[in-house]
Amino acid sequence: MTDTKKTAQLSLNGETYELPIFSPTTGPDVLDIRKLYGQAGVFTYDPGFTSTASCDSTITYIDGGKGELLHRGYPIDQLASKSHHLEVCYLMLYGELPTAAQLEDFETRVTRHTMVHEQMHNFFRGFRRDAHPMATLVGVVGAMSAFYHDSTDINDPWQREVAAIRLIAKLPTIAAMAYKYSIGQPFVYPRNDLDYAANFLHMCFSVPAEEYHVDPILARAMDRIFILHADHEQNASTSTVRLASSSGANPFACIAAGIACLWGPAHGGANQACLEMLKEIGSVDRIPEFIERAKDKNDPFRLMGFGHRVYKNTDPRAKVLKQSADEVLELLGVENNPLLQVAKELERTALNDEYFIEKKLFPNVDFYSGIILEAMGFPTSMFTPIFALSRTVGWISQWKEMIADPQNKIGRPRQLYLGETERNYVDIESR
Ligand code: SDX
Repeated sequence: MTDTKKTAQLSLNGETYELPIFSPTTGPDVLDIRKLYGQAGVFTYDPGFTSTASCDSTITYIDGGKGELLHRGYPIDQLASKSHHLEVCYLMLYGELPTAAQLEDFETRVTRHTMVHEQMHNFFRGFRRDAHPMATLVGVVGAMSAFYHDSTDINDPWQREVAAIRLIAKLPTIAAMAYKYSIGQPFVYPRNDLDYAANFLHMCFSVPAEEYHVDPILARAMDRIFILHADHEQNASTSTVRLASSSGANPFACIAAGIACLWGPAHGGANQACLEMLKEIGSVDRIPEFIERAKDKNDPFRLMGFGHRVYKNTDPRAKVLKQSADEVLELLGVENNPLLQVAKELERTALNDEYFIEKKLFPNVDFYSGIILEAMGFPTSMFTPIFALSRTVGWISQWKEMIADPQNKIGRPRQLYLGETERNYVDIESR
């Protein structure tokens, strides 16, 4: 960040305080309030951190007003159409697009780490078969620190690098194992001759009883979903990873914490919730009923897959996913999928409704991803695990950036206390 020597003045209790202003390479200026409590004895108040920059970063930039998303400066629609997930992983981890030689080396390193320790197969057996795959994912990823103890020392740059590669490489394998375990089918080992997305589809959908050929169009759509979910600035799960990491916890524990946070329906769990909502709506003629429920303050129902904390115009990822949805559904001959018809009519109705226009609510990344994944044959319970494996590179890139930051210290927010002041204990006989 550039120290602009600009300052903001805060007048409080007859005193004036100078707050330094820092300017970014692009986006809003920030007020440096790090010394405010020490100087003025007051906290700032920002539940949900809607006006708070928790860190500085060089990885992802979002302009919510323009609907702009850049990864290391490259627009998401260019990356989604011209790149592939492992190249985007390289870009996020190291800051630049790789040369052909760098990419080949990186892909080889990731490919060689896609298998998991054989003992992990037993670890899965402790779960009920009907466990939600996200429960399995949180447990198994957290347990990776017990299997890969030689890449848990966060002060060793080489171990940090190995942990990052292991997580990017093994999350698809673990997510596929969680799926196979939930449907009672045998685990499928990764194959080094398949690319990242094709390998994931192979591990999910192949069975020992017959050959499985990955359709290149489905693999491309899968890869695009990975790219579009890869990172998203300081969202709830990334902030969770950063906060967990600030205590010095090992990378596997930090990513498990991010997976747990992503699970919520207001965040990464929205893709599953969105599909379940579309199924509950069931037909186009029931859309008005649900639109009215979403507008009713007394009804907790919200249109899942709509709205965003930052985007107040359009989610650029949803635009790309909408194209993918049309391609995949046409390939699968389900372009007349009733869910897609409901989704498209719901989108059209909401975008023309005064409430949604005024509240700036529109389809987000989760709205179309669920439709594509459903058409590809995934159960709704696998939608958020796929989001989690895609976001692993974003989490671990932000983790690496934070660990390497000399300003890094434990995160410790304060509060506005509204509880009782000191009072004496009362014996039960006197209560
Ligand atoms: C992701 O942060 C990220 O970057 C996240 C993410 C990422 O890549 O990491 O982009 C991924 O999480 C996408 C969002 C997925 N969640 C959903 O689709 C769930 C449904 N959406 C809402 O829960 C909500 O829109 C949020 C949580 C996404 C955003 O909430 P905000 O910005 O904090 O908005 P809000 O809750 O303050 O709502 C503002 C107003 C409210 O009405 P008022 O109180 O002002 O009268 O809009 C209304 C809300 O009631 N509103 C909705 C709505 N979302 C907000 N009304 C109906 N349906 C909705 N979906």
